[in-house]
Amino acid sequence: QWDSTLASAIIAAHSSLDGAALPILHALQDEFGHIHEDAVPLVAQALNLSRAEVHGIVTFYHDFRRDPAGHHVLKLCRAEACQSMNGARIASDLLATLGISWGETTPDGHLTVEGVYCLGLCACAPSALFDGEPIGRISSETLADVVQQARA
Ligand code: FES
Repeated sequence: QWDSTLASAIIAAHSSLDGAALPILHALQDEFGHIHEDAVPLVAQALNLSRAEVHGIVTFYHDFRRDPAGHHVLKLCRAEACQSMNGARIASDLLATLGISWGETTPDGHLTVEGVYCLGLCACAPSALFDGEPIGRISSETLADVVQQARA
C-alpha cells in the first residue's frame, strides 16, 4: 500500500548519502514492492533532480519494478552461459505460453517473470530463481511445474 508520508521518511533517511538515488530507490522498492509512480517526484525533489532523470534511473536498472509483482516471481537468467544452453529458447517459449513479456505478470496475478543477468549458477545453466530459490538446468518441463506451483 502506497504511503507518501512513509516514502518521504525513507527518502529523508537516505538522502544525505553519496549517490543517494539508488539506495533510496532500493529502500522504496523493499518497502512497497515496486517504485510507485508517485515516488518519482518525491525522489526528484529531495535530490534536486528532474523527474525525467529519476524516471531514467528506474527504467535503466532491471532491479526496479514499476508495477507490483505477482504472488510469485520467477527470474530467468539471460546472461551468456545460460543463453548458450538453450536458455533464450526456453524463456521465450514460457513467455509465449503465458502470454506475457519480460517483467510482466500473468493476468491472474500469480506469476511475474523477470530477466536477470547471471545468478552465479552458470555451472548448472540454464538457471533461474523461483521466489528466491535457485533452480538449475531448467527446461520447458521444469518451468511448467513451476507455473503450476505458482498457480496452486
Ligand atoms: Fe546464467 Fe551465470 S550466466 S547463471
